[in-house]
Amino acid sequence: MAKEIRSRVFSGIQPSGNVHLGNYLGAIKGWVQRQSEKDNFFCIVDLHALTVPNDPKQLNTQTRELSAMLFACGLEPEKCTVFIQSHVACHSEGAWILNCITPLGWLERMTQYKDKSKGKNSISTGLLDYPVLMAADILLYDANEVPVGEDQKQHVELARDIALRFNSLYDSDLIVPEPVIPAVGARVMGLDNPLVKMSKTYSNVRGHAIGLLDEDKEIDRSIKRAVTDSGNEIRFSDAIESAGVNNLLSIYRVITQKTEIEIESEFANARGYGDLKKRVSEVIIEELNPIKDKYNRLMSDVGELDRLLSSGAQKAEEISRARLNKIKQTIGLVLPKN
Ligand code: TYM
Repeated sequence: MAKEIRSRVFSGIQPSGNVHLGNYLGAIKGWVQRQSEKDNFFCIVDLHALTVPNDPKQLNTQTRELSAMLFACGLEPEKCTVFIQSHVACHSEGAWILNCITPLGWLERMTQYKDKSKGKNSISTGLLDYPVLMAADILLYDANEVPVGEDQKQHVELARDIALRFNSLYDSDLIVPEPVIPAVGARVMGLDNPLVKMSKTYSNVRGHAIGLLDEDKEIDRSIKRAVTDSGNEIRFSDAIESAGVNNLLSIYRVITQKTEIEIESEFANARGYGDLKKRVSEVIIEELNPIKDKYNRLMSDVGELDRLLSSGAQKAEEISRARLNKIKQTIGLVLPKN
């Protein structure tokens, strides 16, 4: 029987601080839900984390913690490949090659680069080059789909442009990937300010984000303090004034997987935002408790985590090396004889 060709999925996450509810609902939860459907690669992008100043000890710890967290959230090594970016040298090599065909102007236009470099006296070349490394991540795996939150859409679109440019400059067939953005949860907003996305940058600002390892009490406190408005309507809405309530409802929706109509009718007789906050806090705690337990178990078994990561890197190396060699041949580099 002919082997079924499954579409390939690639996505990544930076080990740059506590994983928060935005990362989980905008990306990781979707990876877990669909891990059986496709051929999936999920990468802990430690090289991307180097683009801004870093404490080496902290980076090391955060990389291990994030690895454990991804398995704790439900990624299963039998169903998908989880690995650390720097364990597979093809990513850096591929990025160099793609750098050489990427116009500088494309990188200077990236919103995230503009935001992160604003007001800084000095930034690293890596910060500008960040999306090319991301393009290498994706293109080396012939990924058709890249599930990400809204904030990464522009970078995936750049990866598409780079693939198209490479294919037109050379006789090549790089797959042009599609960003896959979740219908709900693609932009979880800050609890303290629902007009900015929940972000690791502010995750030490109290009440901004919920970390996946936060204690129940802390979660409850953050939700209780979440900004709402002076009304009492519990409805989904795009109005700026309702951004806080909409954010809480969207969080509730992604976790419970209920429809908007079901949720609005559930809260039709609520006595105000207090009732909404109580339920939101309950469902977050219920969702995160098993994750925390599994995370603690994995963190206490260092050998098992290392084994999972090294088998992931091996699989990733096989796939990406084949594509990188093809790219090298296409552009005229001489492959070593072995
Ligand atoms: P990172 O580490 O910032 O975020 C990981 C994932 O979480 C999503 N996300 C959010 N989703 C909803 N609401 C939020 N508030 C929120 N904050 C973050 C991000 O969109 C992302 O999907 N450059 C990437 C990592 C990367 C990558 C890749 C992704 C490197 N190479 C290749 C895909 C494919 C990043 O920094 O994500």
